[in-house]
Amino acid sequence: MEESALASSWSCPASLLAAGQSAKFRLRCWDRTVEGFLVNHDGRFYAYVNRCAHAGTTLDWWPNEFFTDDGRHLICATHGAIYLPDTGLCIAGPCPGASLTPLPVAQQGDTLIVSCPEGEP
Ligand code: FES
Repeated sequence: MEESALASSWSCPASLLAAGQSAKFRLRCWDRTVEGFLVNHDGRFYAYVNRCAHAGTTLDWWPNEFFTDDGRHLICATHGAIYLPDTGLCIAGPCPGASLTPLPVAQQGDTLIVSCPEGEP
């Protein structure tokens, strides 16, 4: 996709994202391209910038693989930081207490809409 074609919001049908699944997307925020990911954790939806709070790499070494094997946490493939899916808080690994950058998620019917956060992070 051309960078100029990116928008400040991204949407997908909630019904396509079962519990424990994730989806990647890109937004155009503050004149920059932001890669993000959306997860369904126990039936609730959360989105974050795909940038580890430790050293800033993307979390998914394998594309769109964000959950730990047991599906309870998010994990960064680079050095193993473990995050809570519902808050983005790092609870284990090299950056406990740090957090992923959340992106707002709205739901209209079956449509999930992720948008740029207010203000520049
Ligand atoms: S960059 Fe993610 S754990 Fe180090």
